[in-house]
Amino acid sequence: MARRATAGRGPGSQGNQRAGEGRKDGGGRKDGGGRKDGGGRKDGEGQRAGRRQDERRSGRRADPARLVAFEVLRASRERDAYANLLLPALLRERGLTGRDAALATELSYGTLRGQATYDAVIAACSTRGLDQIDPPVRDVLRLGAHQLLATRIGAHAAVATSVDLARKVAGPGTAGFVNAVLRRVATHDLEAWIAAIAPDRAADPLGHLAVRYSHPRWIVAAYSESLGEDGVAGPGDAAPAGAGAALAETEAALAASASRPSVTLCAVPGLADQAELAADGAEIARWSAFGAYLQGGDPAAVAAVRQGRAAVQDEASQLAALALTRVDVGTPDRLWLDLCAGPGGKARLLAGLAARGGARLVAADIRPHRARLVRAAVTGAAGVVVADGTAPAWRPGSFDRVIADVPCSGLGALRRRPEARWRKSPADVAGLGALQRRLLASALAAARPGGAVAYVTCSPHVGETRAVVADVLAGRDDVVVLDAPAVLAEVPDLRCPEPGGRYAQFWPHRHGTDAIFLALLQRRPGPRSAADTGPVAGRTTR
Ligand SMILES: C[S@@+](CC[C@H](N)C(=O)[O-])C[C@H]1O[C@@H](n2cnc3c(N)ncnc32)[C@H](O)[C@@H]1O
Repeated sequence: MARRATAGRGPGSQGNQRAGEGRKDGGGRKDGGGRKDGGGRKDGEGQRAGRRQDERRSGRRADPARLVAFEVLRASRERDAYANLLLPALLRERGLTGRDAALATELSYGTLRGQATYDAVIAACSTRGLDQIDPPVRDVLRLGAHQLLATRIGAHAAVATSVDLARKVAGPGTAGFVNAVLRRVATHDLEAWIAAIAPDRAADPLGHLAVRYSHPRWIVAAYSESLGEDGVAGPGDAAPAGAGAALAETEAALAASASRPSVTLCAVPGLADQAELAADGAEIARWSAFGAYLQGGDPAAVAAVRQGRAAVQDEASQLAALALTRVDVGTPDRLWLDLCAGPGGKARLLAGLAARGGARLVAADIRPHRARLVRAAVTGAAGVVVADGTAPAWRPGSFDRVIADVPCSGLGALRRRPEARWRKSPADVAGLGALQRRLLASALAAARPGGAVAYVTCSPHVGETRAVVADVLAGRDDVVVLDAPAVLAEVPDLRCPEPGGRYAQFWPHRHGTDAIFLALLQRRPGPRSAADTGPVAGRTTR
């Protein structure tokens, strides 16, 4: 196995004796792993002075960034906190900015993402099973493993600060155990650990990628199925020789889950445009005519964003909405529907486009507080209603265009929520299936003959994308599946593998966007009855 390049400066070196495995930590107390730590050496004045010097060197006394990262991990574990909400609040509360804030962010996000890989390494380095290690100590070990295996932080600093953190958050008796485990972690680099702990790639490619990229195996299988690579390695399959290499795109998709999403802005049609966003420092988006990329910085620094004339919105989300507006529906547009509108990203864009073309958007959401967010997002004549999209408050056939951006597992936005992959389960996907089917059927019923429907998810999982559309359309001859990739012809590589070739699937590794799915459907033209054009009822938010 290869050794870490930094190992020479690391835990085994002279300067780190105090963190050395086997020395007495506070007089032979039990450590956090429950084993006796130490060999009974006295901690004399000379050593204490050395320790103080050590602490000054490594800056361990003032290490608020690691403490914040630890608190994010603990809150995520104990109360399902969202790192992307908690972290900014903690940074503000502790007054962390600049390098400290960047370190706290990197440590919390990176550790949450890499958790499965780090757990496997820690298990290999500990005499105790992971579930026998006190949870706060496990969090400290994960943080330490991340620093050792995935950052440029020197091994000495990574181990010493982790030992210090363990003392602070889990008691002095845990220091020896943390020190010992992390010293073993530091003996190899990440690649060497993966070679040692992950299943063999050729024999079990899904299992190998799950450990290498720290994803639950079922998500690796879902990505590979969506990408059409599942033929070589379905869930639990023993794959044929060479199958591992054949999962190359699945691997790219998993790797992209660790990438930091760029901030994309969307100008509200009629209120702002790309030129204004570009003048404020953003870069004009590749595909969306309303999009612009913000390279770092606070979106609120952009005047149009501050004033509600632009907002943060993933480019694929913009394009899914734009695709719906491009379908030829025969007669002039009058009324559009966003069936599941909260918090209002697509509704904001669609309301602007509808108004520009003389039409009006109705935006619905079942949850009143989500509907209120939509109300705040949309402008002009758009109507916002609190309504259950499966029991519509409008007459069938009322709308020229309908978007059903249904509740889903969110597997397409793992980049945004580092902990999300551990919170989801196949049961979540299965549990949403019935609602997704009812909402799509309802969207089709709401569209007039000749009208268009966009079915959208922020997930590439076949169970909530192609399977839903196939089930809802089974036995119906009044709906045409449009060629969504052709409607978005400017965007390359959108086509789903056959037999789903008329559906579009965005991917972070291909498009730099969330993995958003789009099916574009059209009701076959037919006579329009008076009953099709009744008023829209429902509880409105204004
Ligand atoms: C994926 S989000 C929609 C995102 C939104 N289109 C956007 O671009 O900001 C799904 C929304 O569907 C709403 N929802 C869930 N069940 C619903 C139902 N039966 N009828 C209407 N809305 C529903 C949820 O409250 C949630 O706000």
